[in-house]
Amino acid sequence: MTEMTVLTKVRTAITIAGSIYVLAIGLLAVPYFQSHTVYLNAIRLPWFADFDAPERYGLALNKTYNFKIQTVDNETLGAWFILAESIYQTLPSHHTSPKPHIEHALRTRPTILFFHGNAATRAFKARIQHYSAFSSRLNVNVLAIDYRGFAESTGSPSEEGLVRDARAAYEWLISSGAKGEDILIMGHSLGTGVSARLAAQLSKEELPYRGVVLMSPFSSINELLKTYSVMGTVPLVKPLTMIPYAFNFITWALIHKFDTLSSVRQVKGKVLIAHAENDWDIPYTHSEALFNAFLDPLLPSVDLPSDLVSTTKEDWSAFTAQIAARKTQRENIVTTTRMTNFGVMEEFPGGGAPREREVTFVKMLEGNHDYVGVQEGLQDIIGRKFGLFTPPAPSASAAAPPADAGDSATESGSSTESGSWSPVVPPSDRGDWTTVAKIVDE
Ligand SMILES: *[C@@H]1O[C@H](CO)[C@@H](O)[C@H](O)[C@H]1NC(C)=O
Ligand SMILES: *[C@@H]1O[C@H](CO)[C@@H](O)[C@H](O)[C@H]1NC(C)=O
Repeated sequence: MTEMTVLTKVRTAITIAGSIYVLAIGLLAVPYFQSHTVYLNAIRLPWFADFDAPERYGLALNKTYNFKIQTVDNETLGAWFILAESIYQTLPSHHTSPKPHIEHALRTRPTILFFHGNAATRAFKARIQHYSAFSSRLNVNVLAIDYRGFAESTGSPSEEGLVRDARAAYEWLISSGAKGEDILIMGHSLGTGVSARLAAQLSKEELPYRGVVLMSPFSSINELLKTYSVMGTVPLVKPLTMIPYAFNFITWALIHKFDTLSSVRQVKGKVLIAHAENDWDIPYTHSEALFNAFLDPLLPSVDLPSDLVSTTKEDWSAFTAQIAARKTQRENIVTTTRMTNFGVMEEFPGGGAPREREVTFVKMLEGNHDYVGVQEGLQDIIGRKFGLFTPPAPSASAAAPPADAGDSATESGSSTESGSWSPVVPPSDRGDWTTVAKIVDE
């Protein structure tokens, strides 16, 4: 074999690989393939799931009600309603259907309306771990749906379709006895795009909800394409950004945008964003971009010098002064709390903010892409922020706390109500929490 033929082979291989790549990217512009790439709903993990048997996937016996939700455009969605632990514990035995207890559960405890990410179904293992933790540790009900085209739901996915599905789930909760104020909207990954749009829609119609939690979110699908890497190593579309117009072509062909960044302006109320530093699917910079977008209206604007060539010294110092003012204002309104071995929390309060927003960003050290919500550290912040820890109704047996409850430093002297279901009754106000973080830090 001569050197020449080896070189020719290498060249041929590169040409073939290049052509396959160009072809694959070209296919992304075809709606059918684009839809399957964004939603991955053909991957029905776990395969051949029996949604009538949630016990099989790890949930307690008869704690979950499997049913269907109808959307306004006549799609039928598979759904699970999981009872809050305190309600489940009052059931006479596990031979009782959870169905008759749903109304009581909705009237007694808050509910997390959970929107999962792309691929797989509501019975996927990582998702079950979330329902399990929320229903037991936070003692809230959970409603998890499978969007159109996922699991046994009818239809095929689209951005508008998924937003309608989300709205149908919200309406089902209301018509089954929940108050809007008791519904906490929560999305993971692709589900954050759905959650943000639902929240924006409800805000616009002045319908209540307790808040929104965005776990491992992306700022928009367009931005995501630029940063997305398969398994954190192979950049998918990034090489295209080096070819002029090629990326613009993809942007132009993008049907499913989920532009959460632009929904930010419409979302009212409390928002919590959580992202792990070791998320190799979606970099945490997406969450930083979202947090900054929420913060933006509260900061003085900066005028870029219009013409950089003829910029005078005065223009320049005015510009740098504006930047400094913006930085100072940011430091004034954003509180930063460092939690050793867990992460950093940045928050700004709603008082005086436009549309009374209160936004928190938790950047965690661990959690990968799929397990952010499984971290107990985050669950506690969610419980505290959205008032999920308020003790259950007086009907629950309220045993008096033992005389020497022996509060640990991490609870900063708040009274714990032992005998209630909650493992920790955390300090109720933010001031306490900041002190706690300091104590832990030292
Ligand atoms: C949905 O179905 C109902 C009855 O089956 C029908 O009356 C209605 O027109 C349908 N709506 C749509 C949007 O297809
Ligand atoms: C749930 O309750 C029903 C009765 O309503 C019973 O038939 C069924 O076996 C129970 N399921 C489990 C897993 O115990």
